[in-house]
Amino acid sequence: MNAPRIDVLLQSNWAAAGLVEDVRRGLGSQPRTLPPKWLYDDAGSRLFDEITRLPEYYPTECERTILREAAGDIAATSRATTVVELGSGTSDKTRLLLDAFADAGRLDRFVPVDVSEETLREAADMLAARYPATSVEAVVGDFTLHLGHLARYSPKLVAFLGGTIGNLYVEERGAFLGALADSMEAGDELLLGTDLVKDADRLITAYDDPGGVTEAFVKNSLHVLNRELDADFDVDAFSYVPFWDRRMQRMDLRLRAEMPQHVTIPGADLDLDLFSGEEIRVEISTKFTEERLREELEAVGLEIQRIWTDPTASFAVTLARRT
Ligand code: AVJ
Repeated sequence: MNAPRIDVLLQSNWAAAGLVEDVRRGLGSQPRTLPPKWLYDDAGSRLFDEITRLPEYYPTECERTILREAAGDIAATSRATTVVELGSGTSDKTRLLLDAFADAGRLDRFVPVDVSEETLREAADMLAARYPATSVEAVVGDFTLHLGHLARYSPKLVAFLGGTIGNLYVEERGAFLGALADSMEAGDELLLGTDLVKDADRLITAYDDPGGVTEAFVKNSLHVLNRELDADFDVDAFSYVPFWDRRMQRMDLRLRAEMPQHVTIPGADLDLDLFSGEEIRVEISTKFTEERLREELEAVGLEIQRIWTDPTASFAVTLARRT
């Protein structure tokens, strides 16, 4: 058996792994924010998985439709023998791509990278069993910090699916794409999934499902702080406020304190006095146009080979090559 290898680059103790600094920086200043990577503890990863199966949350199905259509072409034209996946989660849709590479006899190695160790271990075992000729080398890591680790693999295709790049603020995105391009050799490829700008109603519905799964997912961020940093957020005293920021072209997902709250966060040595109505931004989800994609990828030396969209033009998958 090809037992998967797991490299742990992110400490399992999140308080030591950067959570404290992020909380001090983000919650200790105005506007109050929390970086979305801390949404994905084991409970959060399970909730996100549930989101991807909601009828309102169209991105997953749209991307799956695209990959079903495009995977064969991608594997046929790619020069890669290693597939890296950033923010891999359960690598569910990625199997369409991996199947195509494996069928072409070109999947020597698969490197899934994710912050959630448990999710990654389960996925790695499943993938190693499914692709017996492939070496699975999983990385517990943060794709904004650990791209240097990927430089050793070439020729590679880096898959960054699901629209996760939309979580980054515009400056972070530029820095991320630059670092990603630096970790690639000429000829290496990027396969990038991005959600597209569309009608506000459809966007808001996708982030505000009636069953409250998305709300539970966003609120899980406070449970993470209560557990990891001994904080005393009264999670039920917050309401979930998703809205479309037209100017910034992004969904903005916030939690609003419905009454004044004094919160202590001993693990970050921080006390907060939240006024009634005060909001914490937990996640943004930026939506793209083809022009913007082209501009941002070309700025870092990633030349677009092809852009696929689904029949409803809701979502795009872009193949780009490092020049
Ligand atoms: C995993 C970042 C792509 O932005 O659509 C889904 C996360 N948050 N519903 C997204 C998410 C609320 C998702 N990404």
